[in-house]
Amino acid sequence: MSSSPLRVVVVISGNGSNLQALIDYQQQPDCAYQIVKVISNRPNAFGLQRAQQHDIATAVVDHTEFNERETFEQALIQHIDSAKPGLVVLAGFMRILTPLFTGHYLGRMFNIHPSLLPKFPGLNTHQRALDAHEHEHGLSIHFVTAELDGGPIVLQARVKIHPNDNVETLQHKVHQQEHLAYPIAVNLFAQQKLHFANQQACYLGQPLLQPLQLEELV
Ligand code: GRF
Repeated sequence: MSSSPLRVVVVISGNGSNLQALIDYQQQPDCAYQIVKVISNRPNAFGLQRAQQHDIATAVVDHTEFNERETFEQALIQHIDSAKPGLVVLAGFMRILTPLFTGHYLGRMFNIHPSLLPKFPGLNTHQRALDAHEHEHGLSIHFVTAELDGGPIVLQARVKIHPNDNVETLQHKVHQQEHLAYPIAVNLFAQQKLHFANQQACYLGQPLLQPLQLEELV
């Protein structure tokens, strides 16, 4: 790689299987990013162990030690910014964010959400997709704005819903696609093919009118 890799901080709350996929992708010859720190709001998040196994710096900012959401976020910002990231990647980070936090990282923070946004923002997306008798489901990777799960979408991946699917099977299928999609989206940003301008996601210098589709990229 000619230029230095994009510094990435990953923020998690739990298992960190998406974090693992992002770590593993660093072995790819075209990988243009480097995870420099992993931060969790939960001290026992398994993702912290995944990072430590790969000699990635970790930190815990435990939200239960703060009375106000904003003071928690200030502490989180300090920890993130000390690692000087070019991109912040939320990967299963289960806290509602205020405009203080989203504004600070506008245009340089991704989230992954397990639905085909704008369908099913918020929680329990797999159950809600089944209840709505959807024929397909999936995931969305988006720039984070002040609107919950509402920022410009950069990449989606789709899975079919079969009549015998349940929450577990659907979650498994979506997770598998997440692990393929998230490293690709982060790498496109690192390669400066994706960016954020005028409240929009842009791809190869042009506003992205429709989200990229994983099946067209692999
Ligand atoms: C993923 O399903 C992601 O879409 C959602 O939280 C889950 C995190 O899973 N935001 P993991 O911790 O990466 O395994």
